[in-house]
Amino acid sequence: MLKDCYLFSLPQITDTRGSVTFMEGQRHIPFDIKRVYYLYGMQENTQRGAHAHKKLKQVLIALSGRFTVKLDDGKEIKEYTLSHPSEGLYVAPGVWRELQDFSSHAICLALTSELYDEEDYFRDYAAYRASLEKR
Ligand code: TYD
Repeated sequence: MLKDCYLFSLPQITDTRGSVTFMEGQRHIPFDIKRVYYLYGMQENTQRGAHAHKKLKQVLIALSGRFTVKLDDGKEIKEYTLSHPSEGLYVAPGVWRELQDFSSHAICLALTSELYDEEDYFRDYAAYRASLEKR
């Protein structure tokens, strides 16, 4: 559900050498981190994501640059802009997400609660909406 998704701040320690941000599963991230991936090399006008997960929980972070995450749970749509490496967006299971409006050199880090499993995906929006009706 969209109401379960939220933006949050990660620790950021800054001194004259620059900054460090860190995150630990179950402490800063609300699950055990099983998989990490990152999206990069996106051209302008690219859209990524465009799927929902049945079970998987996820945190998205803009390690570099900026992009928009559109979240949709079939009832409500909300857009978040991620633009700072110490800011995380928690995306709950069952929420359709589209990543778009990538700035140049944008890198999206994703931390997930599950290993990769194509069976956990809805990649078709109509099928996703139909699944919500059945709940
Ligand atoms: P895809 O799910 O389309 O990326 P996104 O929806 O985040 O924009 O992933 C592209 C391809 O990479 C697809 O064939 C599945 C594969 N893939 C893996 O094998 N393992 C992974 O952890 C991820 C994220 C993708």
